[in-house]
Amino acid sequence: MKNNDNWWKKSVVYQIYPRSFNDSNGDGIGDIQGIIEKLDYLKLLGVDVIWLSPVYDSPNDDNGYDIRNYQKIMNEFGTMADFDQMLDELHKRDMKLVMDLVVNHTSDEHEWFVQSKKSKDNPYRDYYFWREGKDGKEPNNWGSIFSGSAWEYDEPSNEYYLHLFSKKQPDLNWENPKLREDVYQMMKYWLDKGIDGFRMDVVNMISKQPGLPDGVQSEGQLYGDGGQYFMNGPRIHELLQEMNHEVLSNYPIMTVGEMPGATPEDAILYTDPDRKEVNMIFTFEHMDLDSAPGGKWNLKPLNLVELKENLTKWQSALHSKGWNSLYWNNHDQPRIVSRFGDDQKYRVESAKMLATCLHFMQGTPYIYQGEEIGMTNVKFDSLEDYRDIETINMYNERMALGYTHEEIMTSIYAKGRDNARTPMQWDTSENGGFTSGIPWIKANPKYKEINVKNALNDSQSIFYFYQKLIAIRKEMDIIIDGDFQLLLKDHPEVFAYERTRKDESLIVLCNFSANELVIEDEELANKFPEYHLLLSNYEAGKTTSLRPYETVVLKK
Ligand code: NOJ
Repeated sequence: MKNNDNWWKKSVVYQIYPRSFNDSNGDGIGDIQGIIEKLDYLKLLGVDVIWLSPVYDSPNDDNGYDIRNYQKIMNEFGTMADFDQMLDELHKRDMKLVMDLVVNHTSDEHEWFVQSKKSKDNPYRDYYFWREGKDGKEPNNWGSIFSGSAWEYDEPSNEYYLHLFSKKQPDLNWENPKLREDVYQMMKYWLDKGIDGFRMDVVNMISKQPGLPDGVQSEGQLYGDGGQYFMNGPRIHELLQEMNHEVLSNYPIMTVGEMPGATPEDAILYTDPDRKEVNMIFTFEHMDLDSAPGGKWNLKPLNLVELKENLTKWQSALHSKGWNSLYWNNHDQPRIVSRFGDDQKYRVESAKMLATCLHFMQGTPYIYQGEEIGMTNVKFDSLEDYRDIETINMYNERMALGYTHEEIMTSIYAKGRDNARTPMQWDTSENGGFTSGIPWIKANPKYKEINVKNALNDSQSIFYFYQKLIAIRKEMDIIIDGDFQLLLKDHPEVFAYERTRKDESLIVLCNFSANELVIEDEELANKFPEYHLLLSNYEAGKTTSLRPYETVVLKK
């Protein structure tokens, strides 16, 4: 790539969830010094950008996504001196740092909110959404994403404030220019320190429909769905363009907006470089395909044809018009090998297959800590062992609605966010070597088998496979800018696609099943003789048949 401004197109990002990554001081909570200890490990993997989930001062109602002070490091994680050292150590290794920017809401303990709550005429009152009740009830029928109403009553002022997430995460009012100016100053503080970009938490929710109208309330639902009035709202593009103009455009950084509810059409508007908003967004569409109506806890098996259609739609829509981010995992999603792969017999094969399927597409790939060693979902027997506010609130709400414990636990095992948040598994010592103390959340008992130490000692491990994928991406421009074409569109078990660039071509075949399959497609079979094998997760085999979870990449 000639243009250095687009360095993020060739990068592979690794997400660190600091609380669960590595504890250096034995308090059971991961920390910044713990991250520094592992930078050589990340360098060995080959990733060039780290996205760090929030490390700011926070009362941790939502593990740091409720920020009390944007310019202070959370005590449990260390100090600003630790942070500066980490940034320096990263840069020394030619790696970059992307910070989480959480500005749809603050903590209710943030000074702005503390002021705002003091009185109706406090200058900070309008930094948040304060409204009078309607007919003795909440101002509208919106439900919070973390269960219950999205409004919390404040007795002294007889008004409610809006919180789309927990009641300790009041939403900021981006209509207020003073608030925007304060946020921009804070962003500059971090950028002037030399960080390399922002991952913007639910940033497409910062523009709310004026009047905050009621959402549609489906039968059996306790609250209305206000999504259409707070996602991709009326001023969202204007606000992002202002942020870009005031702050982002002055730095050589990368930006990725987390955007639930965004379609490929929205994504073009957000990521078209000429519009100057953000570089890429996180879509949720492919992550919603195994949910039935009513939300993520209502389980539905994945239909591979739908997944193929969906990812193809994104690949085509953004090709030369914007840019995709590519991900299977993050701190909010269950582990992909348990979700779309097989975390038992074919754990290694399916983890490599899933990685291949994603990493050969066009976009910037994101790897979530532990994905590179094939970490799996966890099943704790008791709710007491769960820590995530979303999970706990949902459990209580569904119990009150009459669901059984077993039904709810089935959903939690499949979709709970704590699946991704158990401690990183470094070795076979107690708690996977994450801490010498008592971890804030129990380790996944599989650490005895699945851990970094074992992975590094096995040349066939998932780790070395990821290392290879990252290295290949850096060498082959066809992966960065080649065309994408879906093959075997209706095949229920194989995800196959072709990337082409001038006279070069890559064919990627991925068996998403435990069945041995013969590919009966003449057109494809005719192509095979011209190609040679670039990568596979098995010892060399025949290209016309695929073993369980086999993946093959062919090159012409
Ligand atoms: C999205 C984050 O990824 C998630 O972890 C968090 O709970 C919500 N936004 C609220 O900040």
